[in-house]
Amino acid sequence: MTTRPIRIAPSILSADFSRLGEEVAAIDAAGADYIHVDIMDGHFVPNITFGPLVMASVRKITRLPFDVHLMIAPADDFIAAFAKAGADIITVHAEAGPHLHRSLQAIKAEGKKAGVAINPATPVSTLAHVIDDIDLLLVMSVNPGFGGQSFIAESLNKLRQARALIGNRPIDLEVDGGISPDNAQAVAQAGANVFVAGSSIYGGNDAATYAPRIAAIRSAASTRLA
Ligand code: DX5
Ligand code: ZN
Repeated sequence: MTTRPIRIAPSILSADFSRLGEEVAAIDAAGADYIHVDIMDGHFVPNITFGPLVMASVRKITRLPFDVHLMIAPADDFIAAFAKAGADIITVHAEAGPHLHRSLQAIKAEGKKAGVAINPATPVSTLAHVIDDIDLLLVMSVNPGFGGQSFIAESLNKLRQARALIGNRPIDLEVDGGISPDNAQAVAQAGANVFVAGSSIYGGNDAATYAPRIAAIRSAASTRLA
C-alpha cells in the first residue's frame, strides 16, 4: 500500500470556460492540490479543448501545480510549449506514439515531472521498461475525451497491477475518469494517491460546492489507511 500523500486534482475540463480564471481561483480556494489540465486534439481523442496560450493565461491565477494531461498525438512537438506555458507535470499517453522513452526524455529536458497515461485497454506491462523514467503513472478509468463518464470497474485491477509495478519507487499513481466520493475509497485501496475529478467537483459550476466536494473525495480516499 502506498504511503504517498493523497492529492486531489480537479479537472478544469468541467469548469465554465466563459469564467475560466474565476473557476481556477475558486478551486484553489476550495482546497485543490493540483490543477488538472486536459489537452485534447480531436485526433488522439474525439474532442478538442485548448492549447498552451489559454493555459498560460490561467497559469497566473494560482500557484498550485499544473498537472497537464496531453491527449494529443504526436505529443513531442508540443512538450516545450506546454512547459513554457507553466506545466509542472506533463503526462503523455503511452499510445500516442512509437517512442515513449523519447517523449519522457523531452519532458525531463524541460525540467518538468514526467507522467505516462494508459488507456483502459492498454496493459500496465507496457510501462515495465520505462518505469524508472517516470514520476507519475496515470491509469485512465474511462476512455479519454469527455468528462462525466462512468468509472470502468476493471480499473481497480489495473491500479493494483500499477501499484505492484511501482513498488517502493517515488512515483505517484493517478486515476482519471468517473471519480467521486462513492468510489474514492476503493480506488485508494487499489493503490491510487492522485485523484482527478471533473464533473464530481465542477458539476453545476457553483463555487460554493467545491470545498465540500473536494473534502468528500479526500475523506473517502483517506480511509485507505483505516
Ligand atoms: C477525460 C479527462 C478527464 C475528465 C474527467 O478524458 O482526461 O480528466 O475531465 O472527468 P470526470 O471526472 O467527469 O470523469
Ligand atoms: Zn485528464
